[in-house]
Amino acid sequence: MIETITELAALRERVRGWRRDGLRVGFVPTMGNLHAGHYSLVMLARQYADRVVSSVFVNPTQFGPNEDFTRYPRTPDADTAGLEGAGCDVLWLPTVESMYPFGVELASRIRVPGVSAVLEGECRPGHFDGVCTVVSRLFNQVQPDVAAFGKKDYQQLAVIRQLVADLQFPIEILGGGIVREADGLAMSSRNQYLGADDRPRAATIHRVLRDMREAHLAGAPRAVVQAQAAEQLRQAGFVVDYATLRRPDLSEPLDGEAGPKVALVAARLGTTRLIDNLEF
Ligand code: PAF
Repeated sequence: MIETITELAALRERVRGWRRDGLRVGFVPTMGNLHAGHYSLVMLARQYADRVVSSVFVNPTQFGPNEDFTRYPRTPDADTAGLEGAGCDVLWLPTVESMYPFGVELASRIRVPGVSAVLEGECRPGHFDGVCTVVSRLFNQVQPDVAAFGKKDYQQLAVIRQLVADLQFPIEILGGGIVREADGLAMSSRNQYLGADDRPRAATIHRVLRDMREAHLAGAPRAVVQAQAAEQLRQAGFVVDYATLRRPDLSEPLDGEAGPKVALVAARLGTTRLIDNLEF
């Protein structure tokens, strides 16, 4: 049976008990409204740990003023049942007051420079400061040995890796593969905002990412690959924030440069903003 914990002292006591028994602790932070992608992270953490804690906390500090904080979907009963089915031992449910004891305005902030400044950092100013601030707090609360993050949020994973290395958290970071719907759309809590007309079109993103890979591997210059991708997305009805080809560290590769790459897209259908990526 999964145990739901809402008090920090109780969480610490539970984790201390596991440690006394020599058990390794895994952690999967989430904002709830869970789907198969989240559950795959719990199962991944389980492979590296004897016990798994998952948190559900819709973090106000990572939403911009015009973003979807208040309407972010909250589905506590389904989340609890799903986490239990995936093998999670403890559901940690902090409140805004316990996460930010001095209030959101006076909260000490963590900012990871460099990797958080590009792409999502440009489109969503302050977003990664909020993510790093809450993830540092969650790490401090749970004190896990390993923590799993999804690769759909490719840049977030890179930012977290830098945060952990820089602040020397003794935590191994695991990246979980993207889980997709049958038509290729990456699973995301935000997919449910898509209207009936937009839902089939949303799968275009994955096709575009594969086309970017093929065009790059066929030798097309980076500018051409990116322009074609943006045009394909626009024709499918998207407003494009970026469609870009990068090195794994998110720096910009030269044309003809060998080595691994990642194609990343952020684009909006109506009011729904979707992100996705493909590594190759
Ligand atoms: O990826 C998310 O769901 C969130 O950014 C995270 C890591 C749980 C922090 O709020």
